[in-house]
Amino acid sequence: MDLFSAMKGRRSCRHYLPEAISEDIIEKILEAGTWAPSPLNTQPWEFIVITNRDVREKIFHEANRCRVWALDISQWKWLDTYLIDFLKQAPVIIAVVGDPKKSGVDMFMEEGMVGYLSACSAAIQNMHLAAYAYGLGSLWFTLFDKKKLREILGIDEAKNPVALVCLGKKASEPAPLPRKSVKDKTRYIR
Ligand SMILES: Cc1cc2nc3c(=O)[nH]c(=O)nc-3n(C[C@H](O)[C@H](O)[C@H](O)COP(=O)(O)O)c2cc1C
Repeated sequence: MDLFSAMKGRRSCRHYLPEAISEDIIEKILEAGTWAPSPLNTQPWEFIVITNRDVREKIFHEANRCRVWALDISQWKWLDTYLIDFLKQAPVIIAVVGDPKKSGVDMFMEEGMVGYLSACSAAIQNMHLAAYAYGLGSLWFTLFDKKKLREILGIDEAKNPVALVCLGKKASEPAPLPRKSVKDKTRYIR
């Protein structure tokens, strides 16, 4: 598959079919994650693959609690109609957990340990592209309380659950969202 078509064709999927995804494919997607760059090759990520229905249900309820809280605090009306049932529909949710200590030289910098977050994000994007290559839908999801998610998934408090990646067969084709032009986003220093 042409890489540029994958980058342009991948879209956030919020409607999934309940069909299971084979462990072989899940492992290939995880392997794609591990080929991401990281500071000093620290590979600061860990993956928790959740297919258990009860655990996915718990994640849904926790995220929904967060959605209601976010609506209240932000007064962003769209949050009222933004339904997150995809957390129950997607047959696979992968939690990407980062280790802040694996940030390379960043750990001595005034602006703090961010290297591990950048590396986890690169791994997540690789996973999205791999999912696309397998014809699957995927979503980068972050609307959760980290403390609560640590409790649900048994994550050490020193580690950061960076994102949940939903995976599954698409129930519908997501509409593409436009991008601003490169020109508007770029400044050259020649
Ligand atoms: C760091 C990050 C956090 C995100 N969190 C959420 C989220 O919590 N819920 C959600 O539905 N989409 C989430 N997204 C997906 C974005 O909404 C989506 O990428 C964006 O609207 C562009 O759409 P596209 O992915 O289809 O191009 C997140 C994306 C990123 C990179």
